[in-house]
Amino acid sequence: MVIYSAPGKVYLFGEHAVVYGEPAVASAIDLRIQVSVERSKRPDIRTDTDTVYIDRVIEKMGVDEPLKIEIDSQIPPGSGLGSSAAAVVACIACINDEFGMGLGKREIAKLGHEIEKDVQGIASPTDTYVSTFGGMVLVPDFKSIPPLDCGIVIGDTFTFASTKKLVEKVADLKKRHEKIVSYIMRAIGELSRIAEPLLYSKDYKKIGELMNINQGLLDSLGVSTEKLWKLINAARKNAWGAKITGAGGGGCIVALVDETKKNVVIEEIERAGGRGISTRVGEGVRKE
Ligand code: MEV
Repeated sequence: MVIYSAPGKVYLFGEHAVVYGEPAVASAIDLRIQVSVERSKRPDIRTDTDTVYIDRVIEKMGVDEPLKIEIDSQIPPGSGLGSSAAAVVACIACINDEFGMGLGKREIAKLGHEIEKDVQGIASPTDTYVSTFGGMVLVPDFKSIPPLDCGIVIGDTFTFASTKKLVEKVADLKKRHEKIVSYIMRAIGELSRIAEPLLYSKDYKKIGELMNINQGLLDSLGVSTEKLWKLINAARKNAWGAKITGAGGGGCIVALVDETKKNVVIEEIERAGGRGISTRVGEGVRKE
């Protein structure tokens, strides 16, 4: 039996704009999915969620013997934290190891992205790349950024949102208001460019302000909701900045906070009806 785990991710900047070629900043988190694979007499996939991604991994990797696969996740599904990418990446790594296929990390990330695109129809390479390599990166070049050493708090609204539908909703808005939505995408991209040197110098106050501006722009694209705003406003009482992470429409927020304020931010998020989760920059896929 082989066991691998892979991390989920947050976007500090740039979701949605990244779909239109703009830069983004994403980070692996320390919430992980663990996958175990062993050869078996009959196929047996044990997971709390849909098996569609795992079925596609098996098919795409050309495995024709029955496998017992068990998936154990700390990442809430459908919450914008990249749980499907983490499951795909960890499963590819297991099969690669068990069958001696010799894939390197770049190939694992690329195959993971192809599988996400096959299943979802649309997906940027961010989730599978970050889940494979870990750390913080500037997308699309995947330039590595030194990890943040402040608190990162996630707030889960407990509402499921379809990334595909939200990406389509934004595409519709862009069709109707091409010029202004293009400006908004460029402005979001510019936030990542401005944030890059601040991430190196760890100027958390300014990074937080830029995250708040990013949230305003995401709201203008129609992907924020009342529940998301409730958690964002609750977190902002004590955070440097807070915004949606991922496609929006539900799912999660991310807040950048001083280490000493982590617990109070979590409490405020919970008082506002969400679940607060403290996280930090995570490692990429690894053998357990
Ligand atoms: C979803 O987590 C982020 C989006 O930018 C889509 C993507 O990058 O694939 C909305």
